[in-house]
Amino acid sequence: MIIKNINLETVCGITSKLPENDKPEIAFAGKSNVGKSSLINALMNRKSFARISATPGKTQTINFYNINDALYLVDLPGYGYAKVSQQEKEKWGKMIERYLHSSKQLRAVFLLIDIRHEPSANDKMMYDWVVSQGYNPIIIATKQDKLKRSQIDKHVKMLRQGLKLVPGTRIIPFSSVTKQGRDEIWELVETELLD
Ligand code: GTP
Ligand code: MG
Repeated sequence: MIIKNINLETVCGITSKLPENDKPEIAFAGKSNVGKSSLINALMNRKSFARISATPGKTQTINFYNINDALYLVDLPGYGYAKVSQQEKEKWGKMIERYLHSSKQLRAVFLLIDIRHEPSANDKMMYDWVVSQGYNPIIIATKQDKLKRSQIDKHVKMLRQGLKLVPGTRIIPFSSVTKQGRDEIWELVETELLD
């Protein structure tokens, strides 16, 4: 995808009305700090258009990035952020649920999982839940630059087994540092998710 223009078009807080967009949407979910905003920046060829932070819980809104007036990349708030109250977490869960239910344009959910570690209970819950909402998420295994090349296959297998992925589910190793995986993600979006 050649990026001609990008625009953070809509930012939704807990009580905001969700937009009724007329272009395809691709959403990115995953625990706090896994690298959702960094991935979106990499896809947009920008360093810091989407705000990123070493402190988990940076993105606390649903952010809709308009790309070339052709599609939206949707940055979802991270789950499993310990410092947020239980009540807040539930509200966010409901908000994300509302989005998955109500979006007429959502074409795919990408679920980001840190390639280094066994998936957490939250990761498994999120995966099962997205599946139960009728989506078959594509897994992005993030921060692959933190592993040696020789470890990648083993870790991909660990994620596949740990999450009990539906057979055929794709896992794309990705690094926002080296941009490894970026072209593969765009290729998939362009050839399979847009019409
Ligand atoms: P929340 O908005 O809090 O849910 O986090 P997020 O998932 O948007 O994560 P974000 O992109 O803000 O990145 C969190 C931290 O991880 C930052 O310090 C990033 O620089 C770092 N990070 C993200 N992706 C990578 C990666 O591929 N490799 C490495 N080494 N660090 C990364
Ligand atoms: Mg973020």
